[in-house]
Amino acid sequence: MTTYAVTAASGHLGRLAVEALLARGERDLVAVVRTPAKVADLAARGVEVRTADYDDRAALTAALQGVDRVLFISGDAPGARLAQHANVVEAAKAAGVSRIAYTGLLRADVSGSPLAPDHKATEELLAASGVPSTVLRNSWYLENHASQLGQYLATGEVLGSTHGGRVSAASRADFAEAAVAALTAESPEPVYELAGVSFDLAELAATVTEVTGTTVTHRDVTTEEHVAALRGAGLDEGTAGFVAALDASIAAGDLFTERDDLVRLIGRPATTLAEAVRAARA
Ligand SMILES: NC(=O)c1ccc[n+]([C@@H]2O[C@H](COP(=O)([O-])OP(=O)(O)OC[C@H]3O[C@@H](n4cnc5c(N)ncnc54)[C@H](OP(=O)(O)O)[C@@H]3O)[C@@H](O)[C@H]2O)c1
Repeated sequence: MTTYAVTAASGHLGRLAVEALLARGERDLVAVVRTPAKVADLAARGVEVRTADYDDRAALTAALQGVDRVLFISGDAPGARLAQHANVVEAAKAAGVSRIAYTGLLRADVSGSPLAPDHKATEELLAASGVPSTVLRNSWYLENHASQLGQYLATGEVLGSTHGGRVSAASRADFAEAAVAALTAESPEPVYELAGVSFDLAELAATVTEVTGTTVTHRDVTTEEHVAALRGAGLDEGTAGFVAALDASIAAGDLFTERDDLVRLIGRPATTLAEAVRAARA
């Protein structure tokens, strides 16, 4: 029997990945988390919970003992993330894990996104480790937009500086299912570009209007105007600049792809934007 571990299993994506493994009938599962209380429900369902922070290489090495394949979900600590990722890769190697599947970023090797350098460097760490790996280059979550539904409706607009750039987003559940399909595959590809159906912000506004019956329009602004609007909404300068830089990356096409890797892995159409907005509304 293959033993699978999922890191960051207390997060949205990790939890969905554990569910996807359980749905496939996998029972030899390890949830690696820094906050065990958050996954008490998974422990009650037979998932072995092991505690390790991404900052603690020794704890990670202990947590990955006896694990065959690990779904390594990227961390979210600005500035500290790459060192944390190095800990996970080195721990997996030391523990003798036979395959690492890593959730990275769409087109990380060429992307100008401010998020890309950590992901690209992590891919390089994986390659250098010698541990067989599968890179799951995730595009945007549909939930990044769907979770802002209340704000879109309150302001009547979708504000951004993407200048018509398209986003090939997919739901977290679709990404989790695709990750598990790749993790459990006999001969996975080394790199998957995972993405769903693309849209731009004007289409997002039109979809919100159609689903809710409330008119929402898209307002495209310059990067400077975007930063000023975000500052006006209460964001600090660093965060406002970061959000605007993400939009500039979308404008450059970094989150667009026509690759169908996700649909091939999950064996069904990807969740659509309208479905995600409907779910958020409910
Ligand atoms: N593609 C996208 O649109 C998108 C959007 C946002 C994030 N992401 C990336 O995808 C990852 C997963 O997304 P998500 O939605 O599941 O995020 P999430 O719900 O915020 O979960 C983040 C997970 O990372 C864990 N974590 C953070 N720092 C850690 C550390 N030092 N040691 C151990 N675990 C740590 C958290 O543990 P606790 O529960 O203990 O806090 C949590 O389980 C994120 O971490 C981020 O890298 C992608």
